[in-house]
Amino acid sequence: MSVRSPNFKPSLRGAHPSIAEELAGKARALEEAGRDIIYMQVGQPSTGAPAGVVEAVTRASEQSPMGYSGAAGLPELQQRISRQYLELYNAEVEPERIIITFGASGAILLAIIGCFDVGQRVALPQPFYYGYRHAIETLGVECVLFETSMENDLQPTIADLEAIEGPIDGLIVASPGNPTGSMLAPEKIREMAEYCERLGIRFISDEIYHGITYDDQVKQATACSYSPEAIVVNSFSKYYAMAGWRLGWMVVPDYLIAPISDLAHNLYLCPPAPAQIGALHAIDCRPELDRHVERYRDNRDILLNGLPRLGFDRFTTPHGAFYLYCHVQHLHEDSLEFCVDMMNKAGVLAAPGSDFCPMSGQHYVRFSYAGATEKVQEAVHRLAQWRG
Ligand SMILES: Cc1ncc(COP(=O)(O)O)c(C=O)c1O
Repeated sequence: MSVRSPNFKPSLRGAHPSIAEELAGKARALEEAGRDIIYMQVGQPSTGAPAGVVEAVTRASEQSPMGYSGAAGLPELQQRISRQYLELYNAEVEPERIIITFGASGAILLAIIGCFDVGQRVALPQPFYYGYRHAIETLGVECVLFETSMENDLQPTIADLEAIEGPIDGLIVASPGNPTGSMLAPEKIREMAEYCERLGIRFISDEIYHGITYDDQVKQATACSYSPEAIVVNSFSKYYAMAGWRLGWMVVPDYLIAPISDLAHNLYLCPPAPAQIGALHAIDCRPELDRHVERYRDNRDILLNGLPRLGFDRFTTPHGAFYLYCHVQHLHEDSLEFCVDMMNKAGVLAAPGSDFCPMSGQHYVRFSYAGATEKVQEAVHRLAQWRG
């Protein structure tokens, strides 16, 4: 459909097409034409919510109207998440400081609107989850991109922060990270949270991949333990395998409870009631969810063993999440063209790095291994045939 009048054009705020999404459209067209494609571009679990979640929601729907909850969510869920901070991290987080949101995406939006005014500057280490940049810029906040190094597993250091020109008002960090799966050690998170607190920089710690970690080499730690000023973002989309339920949470300092809850109320009233009831049940399904993590670990090991001999030998070892971010410049100058070629010739779709890093993303591809183990095995087999 074409725009017929300059008075009725779309705003430019949200106009950021995802390259991986465009490629997925091409892959679906190939599939309709009879090709078999292995989708490794998408970052979501292939399994659904834990058994019993739907049953718990159905049961609750018979007993309650499932109307609006408070803007910050159901008190039972806030309490259960608070207890989980104690169980997993030995961290005391008062239930009222936990605001239930529509996914981590909702938490990120609320954090940006709630903490920064138009024109303030939020720093993002490259590579980053692309949603941060689009959210920051769409909301009129300046996004200050800075580089990280392979030597530091593409995670930020205090030295990187100090090299940024001009003052910054905020910083977003994810550990385990997307697209790398690399992690910051607990002492590094502490160092960064304390540094930010000292300098009046709002530290936003995205902990969405917590629970999906593979070894004791780098333990997961929450910024809640280190700074009362930190904002922690989390979600039911990844470890809990409930991506489509659209539920997450954030932990905020006590003086932000009211302003952020008001924002949530004014923007979307409240998080979805059925998802909150499902989430309450899901938190107690760790044995089932940990079996998914075992599968991701097997998938990761298949890639770590299989890819280097095919030329995919430059990456940061993922200690968490379900991604492998490979440097492929020695295989092709342009990772988008490389991904198209890999899709057409090997029937394997990965995400080109440009979505995650405008500076060097054209030299990287991200493989997601959240799917079935047989698919990951088959992908390595196809890549071996393709690379000959
Ligand atoms: C690092 C990171 N943060 C946030 C999100 C958004 O997740 P949600 O589905 O909870 O909105 C994603 C999604 O892939 C992500 O990878």
